Amino acid sequence: MSNTFPNGFLFGAVVGAHQVEGGNTNSDWWWWEHREGTLCREPSGDACDFYHRYADDISMLAGLGMNAFRFGIEWARIEPADGEFSTAQLDHYRRILEACHRNSVTPILTFHHFTLPKWLLDLGGFASERFPSLFERYCDRAAAALGDAIGIACTFNEPQGLGQSGYLLGINPPGHTDDNTGAQAAVDNLLEAHAAGAAAIRAHSSAPVGVTLAVPDIQYEDGAEPGDTSLEIESRINDRFFELARRDDFVGVQTYTRFRIGPEGPRSPGHDWSDWTREIEETDDTTQMGYEYYPQALGGAIRRAWKSTGGIPILVTENGIATSVDEKRVSFIDAALREAQACMAEGIDVRGYLHWSLLDNFEWAFGYGPTFGLVAVDRHSFVRYPKPSAAWLGAVARARSLPERAGAASGSV
Ligand code: BGC
Repeated sequence: MSNTFPNGFLFGAVVGAHQVEGGNTNSDWWWWEHREGTLCREPSGDACDFYHRYADDISMLAGLGMNAFRFGIEWARIEPADGEFSTAQLDHYRRILEACHRNSVTPILTFHHFTLPKWLLDLGGFASERFPSLFERYCDRAAAALGDAIGIACTFNEPQGLGQSGYLLGINPPGHTDDNTGAQAAVDNLLEAHAAGAAAIRAHSSAPVGVTLAVPDIQYEDGAEPGDTSLEIESRINDRFFELARRDDFVGVQTYTRFRIGPEGPRSPGHDWSDWTREIEETDDTTQMGYEYYPQALGGAIRRAWKSTGGIPILVTENGIATSVDEKRVSFIDAALREAQACMAEGIDVRGYLHWSLLDNFEWAFGYGPTFGLVAVDRHSFVRYPKPSAAWLGAVARARSLPERAGAASGSV
């Protein structure tokens, strides 16, 4: 099997707006982080101050050898009150897109990555009957201002989990538990909003448009029966998004580990969301998230997305590992990229690989503990320190091939 990647293959890294920008005070997550009894270990605060430091970050990514950057725009900044749009904030995001173009980096723009304006949460959030039309209006206004500069557009990041996490498990805003009506409405609204938002973006932009989905690599062992674990429920919701994605230009695949189900039920570590505050110890076989170290999951996820969408182009929009051992990250990426190559050798149209994440950043309720970044960030000075894995991935991107020997962390290939 060839260890090279085709001309034009996208190699890059990803950040999510709320997780890196800092000071996202008008959002539902800011409220969620600060409310009494919050599940969050710490607030997002200044995050990585990406809001002011984006230009240096993009030239750093390009200097490392990568040619694509996925980042998000923040609805709470662009529409700070219902129907009130900020030209200054849209101009800010335009400057980020322009910084990408100046550095010959394809900008992949995410319109929604988990957070909502707080005023929209107060209206009922994803479960509000106004949600699809409000998302459509936001996409219309943002794409009118930015559309010509967008390389690739993603409507939602991982919408398949938002109904469960916010309305059944209570681990995301609005924090409801056992609210089946809310969860159902959220899922139905997100599906409708994706279709409406994609059409609004297309009206102003020739960029390919799609949705990014967390695609768990669920593996049933002999004697195991499908059940109702949260990942299996997400997987069934994915079926509905995959169906809709048949009309899109690509589908974004995101995966971090596998999920094994044996005859006695689930047996993969790190997926017990009932105890959110537990201390997690990284081992040789597990990550800082408690997940099994299993980079091969990417192959299963890509094949599932390819089959379920009837073969639309695939972009790996997130894949990564929370680890304090950077050599482990290099081995992880190496193995994951070999999975992508195996899928391509089978005829699957994989267009790029975007690593989560460019920076060590705010990992939602887990705060700044888990380190997913190719680049470390000093929490006080915000100085960036690229890790050997950043140079390694940049060198793979430049050479468009993987090294013969798996796992070499030398920064050259
Ligand atoms: C999300 C990111 C998150 C990452 C690592 C993905 O599900 O899109 O926001 O930080 O996983 O957990």
